[in-house]
Parts: sequence; C-alpha cells; structure tokens
Amino acid sequence: MMNHQEVENELRFLMQWRNNGISFIPGSPGVEMLNACSKMLLNASDKILNDPNINIGNLFKYGENQGDQEFRENLAHFLTDEYGDDVKSSNLMVTAGATQGLHAILTILCDKKTPVFIEDPTYFLASRMIKDDLQINTIPVQGDETGMIPECLEKALLSYKDQKQNVTCEPSSRFWAAVYLVPVFSNPTGWTYTEERCKKLVQVARKYNILLIAEDVYNLIYFQDACPPKRLLSYDLATDADYTGGNVLSNGTFSKIFAPSVRLGWIEGPAKLLCPIYESFLTWSGGSFNHYMAKVMSQLLSSGALKEHTEWLRASYKKRLAALCDTLDELKPTDWQYHRPKGGFFVWVTFPEHLSALEFLRFARERYDVTFLPGICCSPTLGSKNSARLAFSSLNEDAIVSGLKKLILAYENFTKSCVDRVDVFQCIC
Ligand SMILES: Cc1ncc(COP(=O)(O)O)c(C=O)c1O
Repeated sequence: MMNHQEVENELRFLMQWRNNGISFIPGSPGVEMLNACSKMLLNASDKILNDPNINIGNLFKYGENQGDQEFRENLAHFLTDEYGDDVKSSNLMVTAGATQGLHAILTILCDKKTPVFIEDPTYFLASRMIKDDLQINTIPVQGDETGMIPECLEKALLSYKDQKQNVTCEPSSRFWAAVYLVPVFSNPTGWTYTEERCKKLVQVARKYNILLIAEDVYNLIYFQDACPPKRLLSYDLATDADYTGGNVLSNGTFSKIFAPSVRLGWIEGPAKLLCPIYESFLTWSGGSFNHYMAKVMSQLLSSGALKEHTEWLRASYKKRLAALCDTLDELKPTDWQYHRPKGGFFVWVTFPEHLSALEFLRFARERYDVTFLPGICCSPTLGSKNSARLAFSSLNEDAIVSGLKKLILAYENFTKSCVDRVDVFQCIC
C-alpha cells in the first residue's frame, strides 16, 4: 500500500521525467496552438501601443482593482456569446489566471480554519495548493460520472460540524466551509455535472451557507453541441425564492483558450462575493491582478480575434480527441473502460479493478517511453488506483495514435509479465 509521501515522490519524478517518448501527462495547450498566439499578440500590442487615442500612460498604471472597465465589458460580451448565457461586466474581476484566482478566493473569503470539500479524484495541483500551501483542511467527498453527490456533501458538512463544536452556519464575512469543483469537462476525468446535480449542490450551499468554487477552465473547449454545458453559477439564480445573495463563484482563465504564459483570467460572481476580493488589501496594494495583459486581451476580444481563435482551437482539439478515442474504440483491450468526453483536455481510462496503474506506468515508461498520469496522483484518498488520465491537448494526432498503440502494447506485455507478481495487483477497498 502506498502512502501520500510515496505518491508525492512519484508525482514529482513524473513531472521531471524528460525523454523523447510520448507523454499523455501535460494538460496544457499544444505547441501549434501556442504558436498561433504570437501574431495575435503582435497585432494587438501594436494597436494599443500605437493608438493615438489612448493615453499610453494608462496602460502602465496599476489598473482598477476589479479590472479595466473596457476589458470587463469586452469579456462580458465574449462570454455571453460563448456561454449562451448573460454575463455582466459588473460581475467580473480580473485575475492572473485560475490558480491565482483560487488562491485569492480562499485567502479573502475563507480562513485557515475553513475546511474545503473536494472531489475525489480532483485536479491534483489545486488540492495540494489548498492543503500544503494554504494549510487548509481538505475533505474529499464522493462523486460519480455525474458529479459530486449532494447527499454525501451534506453528510460530510454535518459530520464536520459535529466534530467541531463551535462551528456555526450563520452568515459572516468569511465562509465556514467551501467546496472546490471542476463541474464542466473535469480535470482529471473529462466528466460534466448533470443539471440535477448542479441544482442540488446549489440548494445544499444555500441551506448551509457555504461557498461553491467552480473552476470553469475547460468550458469553452466543447466539441459536440452548439453551446457548452451551463456553468454551476447559472444555477444560483437571484430570482429563486431561497437565493441568499450568491453562493457560487466561477473561476475562469485564458490559459486554455489562449496561452498560460499571459497569466490572465477572471472570476465571475455576484457583488456579495466579488466585492470583498477586489476591495481587499491584496488588490488595494497591487491594483488589477494583470492590467497590461487585460488591455492587450481587450483588443483581441473587441476585434473578434479571440473568438476566431477559440473556434479554431475547438476544431483542432476535437481532431485530437477523435484520434485518441477512435483508436481506443478500435484497439483498446476489452478490460479497459472509458467515456468519450464532450470537451476539455482529458480522457479517463479505467483498467481492471485489481490492476495498479502506477506499476503499469513504470513499466510503460521504462520499456516503451510512453507516460500518463496515474489516477492515484489525483486522488486525495489514494483511490483511483486502477485509473489513468490521458491528456490529448499537447500531442498532435500522429503522436496520439502512435503513443496509444505503444501504450496498448505495453499493457499486453505488462499483464503477461506480471500474472505471477502480486505487487501489481492489489485489493481496492
Ligand atoms: C482545473 C484547473 N484549474 C486551474 C488550472 C490552471 O489554470 P491557470 O493556468 O489559469 O492558473 C488548470 C490547469 O491545468 C486546471 O486544470
């Protein structure tokens, strides 16, 4: 049985592994997608730096704490169009990406005593940031392909309250509990919450006065329908009889629809939740979290260049997903299971119950130069032992097909070679 430290060591080793092989690990945009950003940035920068109507000094000031007004208006317009749902500029604030947005939300709206309830499996770096960097207690809650189970969340909240005598659910300036979720095209599973789950989770949040932090990072990378699935925030309606002023924040980013290096994102939410963040000393001292890039992005939004780019990204990633899933459908061993996701960057594959994906990874890495993220690295309870996250975003179609073929060959030889070995099979309780 592995412990948390061993999994941590494995993860660090995996992240540093550099070879010429094929890696299904990076959940980042492909190099071709990033190359396309350079021309867009040159054009947008040229426009704003040489615009005679712009007071150039305004580009280099701290910037409004909530984020540049014109940028927020252009972003609201873009998101309204993309989501097919009304987004108001007053409900947006600028961040330096989703990671920084999450950090700001937790430090301003919660405190160190606030437990954060997380999915299992979850985005492996966020859960570690919450637990290790912020020293906040994380509590895993059971979920399935349709999302975190509201009844399990309710049970976990009550059990936490029972253990901590002086916890009160009364409204106060800081939330007594928060939930971290990736409801649309999840990292790591690619699954999306159903409407019913979203509605029930919002009801639980209102009943217990807790904050739901939804990372809406992959929403715009959708492949099947005309619009992406609705974000959790759109279920927290001000017109509902039990509306409390807002219990949900949507944490978005340009990392997946443009480039991670620009460190630009947004938080969307009602004034009750957003104001404390942009009126904090953090923003008072630092101003807008990324003013200059917001001005550049504003140009890309208003010119329609980002919309065109996002449409191209969707078409490109759709081909990558098809290369992966069509090959899986054709060649995968009969004991592998997976669901073809409707968007995002990831496919979650499950091997037979008693097989250790970590042992299989080591075998595939050493002998076939192909890697993936073992499920155990995404699980706060060290579960998902027989699962693997395959990211298709950073590999072109040829690499995806040849990488998968290698992986399947590795699997056949791995299962053959270890029939007699006990350490690769374990009981999952
Ligand atoms: C769920 C989730 N949140 C946040 C991030 C990081 O986003 P950003 O680059 O905006 O900090 C990622 C990137 O992999 C992610 O998958």
